[in-house]
Amino acid sequence: MFKSFGRGERTSATTVEHPALQVKPRHIGIIMDGNGRWAKKRGLPRMAGHHAGMLAMREAIRACDDFGIECVTLYAFSTENWKRPVAEVEYLMRLPEQFFRNEIDELIKRGVKIRFLGDTSRLPSYTQETVRTSMQRTEHNTGMTVNFALNYGGRTELMSAIERYAKEVAEGRATVGDLTEAKFDRYLDTAGLPPLDLIIRTSGEIRLSNFLLWQAAYAELWFTEVLWPDFTRDDLFQAISDYGKRKRRFGAIE
Ligand code: FPP
Repeated sequence: MFKSFGRGERTSATTVEHPALQVKPRHIGIIMDGNGRWAKKRGLPRMAGHHAGMLAMREAIRACDDFGIECVTLYAFSTENWKRPVAEVEYLMRLPEQFFRNEIDELIKRGVKIRFLGDTSRLPSYTQETVRTSMQRTEHNTGMTVNFALNYGGRTELMSAIERYAKEVAEGRATVGDLTEAKFDRYLDTAGLPPLDLIIRTSGEIRLSNFLLWQAAYAELWFTEVLWPDFTRDDLFQAISDYGKRKRRFGAIE
């Protein structure tokens, strides 16, 4: 049975009712890799790869929503990506503006709640403006949460969390010895989100690259050779159905 969304209809026959989607991840993290190689293969500038990557990201968000995923976190710009040429960084920083200008109406219609992970205060003012307005316009939505990791790095996130905790101890609002994993979760950018169940990485690279290091502790990892701009809802469907077949033991025995 298909839900009706107006704009953004499905492009394939997979639906939320498919048997392979019975056991599904609550929270998916995606490392969207391979935009540059995708462009190079076509003799195009890297920027064309990022633009195509943005369109693939739009399709992945729609598909996650259609498949009934509660939360998706997209690695859009890492703390290390500042090392790229200025023109490429500027292009990437303009993408959120372009993306939300075109997509915010559909996202609102779907009830999507937008959040950002990472230090957004270091982004250019026009990007920060987009961050602010997209969060504001969707803050009361109760559907899927979409997190954009922007100027995000797992190590920086952990250091900020430790600093926040240390400050609370220094001010007498927290006590050394009382810290638990569940309490520490609250100091992270992902506070309040469902546990990360599945990480997808495209383009054949087999590493985490500083993505959700704490949260990844028990996540299932799924890698594909597909370059991000070529990633489709069928690839996502495959990742979710593979996830459904994994035995998750969390360190215990069966
Ligand atoms: C990695 O591919 C990709 C990125 C650094 C950027 C990802 C961003 C998007 C897909 C769009 C984001 C859009 C919004 C609105 C937040 P790469 O350039 O490292 O590829 P390569 O390894 O083949 O060179």
